[in-house]
Amino acid sequence: MPPVTSSAKATPALAAYLRNVNKSFGDGGSRLQVLKEIDLDVRCGDITMLVGPSGCGKTTLISIVAGTLNVDEGPGEVTVFGQDLRKLSKGATTKFRSTSIGFIFQSFNLIPTLSCVENVSVPLLIQGKSTRVAEKKAREVLEQVGMGDRMKHRPTQLSGGQQQRVAIARALVHDPRLIICDEPTAALDSKNGTLVMDIFESVARSPDRAVLIVTHDNRIFPHANRIASMDDGRIIEVHDIDAAHPLPENLRHGFHS
Ligand SMILES: Nc1ncnc2c1ncn2[C@@H]1O[C@H](COP(=O)(O)OP(=O)(O)O)[C@@H](O)[C@H]1O
Ligand SMILES: [Mg+2]
Repeated sequence: MPPVTSSAKATPALAAYLRNVNKSFGDGGSRLQVLKEIDLDVRCGDITMLVGPSGCGKTTLISIVAGTLNVDEGPGEVTVFGQDLRKLSKGATTKFRSTSIGFIFQSFNLIPTLSCVENVSVPLLIQGKSTRVAEKKAREVLEQVGMGDRMKHRPTQLSGGQQQRVAIARALVHDPRLIICDEPTAALDSKNGTLVMDIFESVARSPDRAVLIVTHDNRIFPHANRIASMDDGRIIEVHDIDAAHPLPENLRHGFHS
């Protein structure tokens, strides 16, 4: 496990702490500011959902939390499990990501030449586990996501929903403390969507783990503890949902991009 700093923000209850995060792409006349003064807390024990119209910056924001994108120079803080990601070297960031983060890409990013078991083994092989150990764990997690009968298939032999479940298995296989998913249930029917959300629930119910989900899928809003709404690069509203604060009416109807 990466060392935890003694910073006051590094409380174990906070998976991610972002303050005044700005992100631009391009430079000069073509510079586009995609994230503007973002503040966000992702708490351990929670499922946090990020919603908002297409192009508002959701994927950019979760990539920053995952350490795959850097924020702009200048002020701003990105602390994940007590690690100030801006201060980590490239190598240390990669190591941090390989132990702490499970990322499910919108486009799945499975390796086409590898079978399901081999794809799901990759995070463990990166950690230096043997093929035997990695594939044993990969098979267990594939069973868990209902893909036990497709172990040897290649991604091209699977439906979109099946590929997505393989991508979810790959994100879970190394028991990361933070699962980040870009539209995890969009390609899933309601049975498999429920199965996947039950898995995310079981991850998030642990006091030192968290789930962060970008979604438009109003079927899964009832699983959220916190819903942050984005628009045009900003977080415009944060709803904490509990017994006293049920899902707001506008979220019950879902978002459309
Ligand atoms: N690598 C990139 N280079 C230039 N522009 C980008 C890049 N990635 C994203 N963008 C732009 O940033 C904006 C936000 O994108 P994104 O974070 O993918 O939005 P969302 O996930 O909410 O649909 C969009 O206008 C998109 O075109
Ligand atoms: Mg996106």
